[in-house]
Amino acid sequence: TPLSHIRNFSIVAHIDHGKSTLADRLIQQTNTVAERDMKAQLLDSMDIERERGITIKANTVRIDYLAQDGETYVLNLIDTPGHVDFAYEVSRSMRAVEGSLLVVDSTQGVEAQTLANVYHAIEADHDLIPVLNKIDLPASDCDRVAEQIEDVIGIDASGAIAVSAKTGQGITETLEAIVKHLPAPKGDRDAPLKAMLVDSWYDSYLGVVVLVRIMDGVLKKGDQIRMMQTGARYGVDRIGVFRPAMQVVDELGPGEIGFINASIKQVRDTKVGDTITHDKKPADKPLPGFKPSQPVVFCGLFPVDSAEFEDLRDAIEKLALNDASFSYEMETSAALGFGFRCGFLGLLHLEVIRDRIEREYDIELITTAPSVIYHVFMKDGTQQDLHNPADMPDLTYVDHIEEPRIKATILVPDEYLGDVLKLCQDRRGIQLDLTYAGARAMVVYDLPLNEVVFDFYDRLKSVTKGYASFDYQMEGYRQDNLVKMSILVNDEPVDALSMMVHRDRAEMRGRAMCEKLKDLIPRHMFKIPIQAAIGGKVIARETLSALRKDVTAKCYGGDATRKRKLLEKQKAGKKKMRQFGKVEIPQEAFISALKMD
Ligand code: GTP
Repeated sequence: TPLSHIRNFSIVAHIDHGKSTLADRLIQQTNTVAERDMKAQLLDSMDIERERGITIKANTVRIDYLAQDGETYVLNLIDTPGHVDFAYEVSRSMRAVEGSLLVVDSTQGVEAQTLANVYHAIEADHDLIPVLNKIDLPASDCDRVAEQIEDVIGIDASGAIAVSAKTGQGITETLEAIVKHLPAPKGDRDAPLKAMLVDSWYDSYLGVVVLVRIMDGVLKKGDQIRMMQTGARYGVDRIGVFRPAMQVVDELGPGEIGFINASIKQVRDTKVGDTITHDKKPADKPLPGFKPSQPVVFCGLFPVDSAEFEDLRDAIEKLALNDASFSYEMETSAALGFGFRCGFLGLLHLEVIRDRIEREYDIELITTAPSVIYHVFMKDGTQQDLHNPADMPDLTYVDHIEEPRIKATILVPDEYLGDVLKLCQDRRGIQLDLTYAGARAMVVYDLPLNEVVFDFYDRLKSVTKGYASFDYQMEGYRQDNLVKMSILVNDEPVDALSMMVHRDRAEMRGRAMCEKLKDLIPRHMFKIPIQAAIGGKVIARETLSALRKDVTAKCYGGDATRKRKLLEKQKAGKKKMRQFGKVEIPQEAFISALKMD
């Protein structure tokens, strides 16, 4: 295909504004898929993605479109990951295309996440086509939303296309706009091969599949290729495009997007953003902007039933095959036995992996407190990266500690602004900006990542009844007064509950934690002290009194329902216990204790 007849684009949208539905419509209207094969939401292939309504893996489709000018164009849609944890992956996908459809739900308006992805698109020099979706709904207000796009994003929305991805209205206009308003890709067929590695995943039949965008040169079956960042060499076994099912082709030329198979053993051998070139006639330099992906949130995963450790290892190894950004190493904890310390790109990533282990592999897990990476500066001038609060060196040798900070952008209706400001302030946030767009405020905060990893999303959702949208980016490290707080149950330290906290907030957090644990740990036949300590100093303490022989005695005999409930509760609590010295702690205590209200 000549460059002039190719258009590459992505769709930028907030979750639920209709990205997948629109993509399906574009595919359907261009007859890319036979009607009978048309499954709802073709692009979200994994169950878990569908269930949670998020798109994790970038997917792609090639559409042939016969335009009104009588010419047939090849339209390549790259579906970008829809979550903040995958900011780097999003930025690479954006570099692989020349333009974006900016889809905004015309009954809702612009959200924080839309903004973040728009910034990625603008950074990649995209032309943006605003698309106002869901015009079939009575609440649709295109004028208001177009105005908001101009105010908040600062792009011209006068030519915005009114669309209903549901009824198909405006789809032809969208396809025409892609052809007319987005630039054709550039590239030199005769130059040495330069292809960007956009994404990769493991396919049980084909092995590792690599999604590439050809910048210069031509890639053919049988070519010897080299990854410029990792230096690895491979022979290309298969080349193809997605329609959206895989279709083998002979070659991919400049401007084209497709996949290759090349006897690559594992997904971790492929790095998003790497440059693929010919081994014999390489490009002189790689594409700019490559960044190895770095986990930012760590936590321990332990099987509830220690007999399932090998199953857990198996599950983790399999998941890691398909996810290069997920790291793990074996960990042993005095309290929890054998497990793994795992690194994730962010909280959502953590949740997805944890869910998959529990659901697909049927292993019940204990998840320890998520932790970020602290930079610990020692008095002797050396520096360590602390991934696990349990490994915190003795304070007498520590000079100072730095923690990662984020820049958070929150969009919220006016009436909830006060609650949001309070929440950010409570989490040691520093306000950077506050502006208004219509009836909504946009606040920008500098926040410590560790205050966000526990339950910030949950709290934000609950204080704003779900109306706030949130996005963040990493902002580097800063020194603060941080200490490790240990929790002792019956005088035994419980590693899995130790955490890094700000000194000024340690007492409060310690007290809250002890109170919670007091409710979460069932009573035993003896008295159990529950303490929070910094170094050797106890900063909070609760005592769980000893159990009386008859647990129902305090119910005064009368209320039978209450009695039964209490006994049932006890029985349920018994199921998932871990033994800590002489004390049994239920599994949910680990998660609940770490949530702050
Ligand atoms: P993620 O995949 O989670 O990012 O969401 P998405 O942006 O892909 O949204 P999706 O296409 O899943 O649409 C979200 C919901 O809006 C679904 O229930 C769709 O059926 C509905 N929807 C999408 N487009 C339209 C539309 O034009 N009109 C109406 N009434 N509903 C729509």
